[in-house]
Amino acid sequence: MKLWGGRFRKETDTLVNDFNSSIQFDCRMYREDIEGSIAHATMLADCGIISMEDKEQIIQGLKDILAGIEAGKIEFTADNEDIHMNVESLLTERIGAAGKRLHTARSRNDQVAVDLRLFLRREIDEIVRQILDLQQAVLDQARQHQETVMPGYTHLQRAQPVSFAQHLLAYGEQLKRDVTRLLDCKARMNVCPLGSGALAGTTYPIDRWQTAKLLGFDAPCSNSLDGVSDRDYAVELLSNLSILMMHLSRFAEEVILWCSWEFKFIELDDAYSTGSSIMPQKKNPDVAELVRGKTGRVYGHLMGLLTTMKGIPLAYNKDMQEDKEPVFDAIDTVKMCLPVFSGMIATMRVLPQNMRRAAGGGFINATDCADYLTKKGLPFRDAYTTVGNLVYYCTEKEKLLEALTLEELRSISPLFEEDVYEALSLETCMGQRKSYGGPAEEETTRQINELKFFIEEARHG
Ligand code: ARG
Repeated sequence: MKLWGGRFRKETDTLVNDFNSSIQFDCRMYREDIEGSIAHATMLADCGIISMEDKEQIIQGLKDILAGIEAGKIEFTADNEDIHMNVESLLTERIGAAGKRLHTARSRNDQVAVDLRLFLRREIDEIVRQILDLQQAVLDQARQHQETVMPGYTHLQRAQPVSFAQHLLAYGEQLKRDVTRLLDCKARMNVCPLGSGALAGTTYPIDRWQTAKLLGFDAPCSNSLDGVSDRDYAVELLSNLSILMMHLSRFAEEVILWCSWEFKFIELDDAYSTGSSIMPQKKNPDVAELVRGKTGRVYGHLMGLLTTMKGIPLAYNKDMQEDKEPVFDAIDTVKMCLPVFSGMIATMRVLPQNMRRAAGGGFINATDCADYLTKKGLPFRDAYTTVGNLVYYCTEKEKLLEALTLEELRSISPLFEEDVYEALSLETCMGQRKSYGGPAEEETTRQINELKFFIEEARHG
């Protein structure tokens, strides 16, 4: 018979039994479910709601069940619907009457909410650790390429010179925000719904602060209706993971471009690329493509859960059982993507000479040429037009700016002097961009140090 069978006179239809059950996926919260129950039993005993002997038996019983699950000795059943009722039935089978007292002043509604928060809190820590590993890989590559000139792009058109280090460090910044966003989410998630009961709290003299504290929460949630009906933390986590995946996907897209023959800025390590079943020459960036592809799946889960939640009246409704699979799958996906992405970045071979060659075409020193004239006294807008004419002239003649003779340059503006060649060299153009955040070596050194500090703080802080 079902734990809730008293009110019923018929067995549940077998289809309904399977349809209704969530044990197939919520079984992964077994540890959190048991932790929550131990805290609840401890509080019940301390508040005089159950006896100390019952509490001892319950806690021992739960610990045995935990060990049994971890040893693979316990099979859950859909007849017991979910992880909460599976654990409770097992407990009662083992310890009898005391087990039946565990659910005093509690509902599965507050139980599932506490389990999920505990579970997601742990997962956030793990994901943050993985992001820090990726940041480390980015940092290690950046350190080696502070002097590597590459074309910076806007509209995927060569724009101005940057260093490969600066380009990578931009991803470092995105990932910093991902870390702090996840930690913010965790902080907001860290309130305890246990003791909200089914929706309206309880008449028992429970101590919600005690359970909150025992489980490492900052406080109990303030309103019991909200306690059992809130899934903001799951939605928020999914949106944080979506943003993280958006970053990985953009990075992946660049990796894919960079290892194409059209760019050849990098070569992926053999261990991080795949071949073709027909084309013997192929070396494909499947890892990056899969990360880009899986991003869609994580976004889908965010949309899915938002849509599930949008029409739900207060408080708990069974629709909310649909919260777990999307969150779990998003977490699994992110946790698969991050380590493989880190490995790909850590092992990629950078080809600075190809970046330099690409930087040499496309007039990426044109802004610097205009700045040169501006520094000689011409208003910037006039200098801009002058250099525009020069670029047009060069395109006609199939020449680079720095390949023009001084006579050619002077025929367009008498302000050009011998020092223009130095000013137009890409090393100068990049090296002199010393403004805060720029690609000059002193600035990438600052960014590298900041990222290093961030990683250390986040690892130990
Ligand atoms: N398995 C349920 C879920 O995941 C647990 C809460 C069920 N509560 C209820 N009253 N049916 O949401």
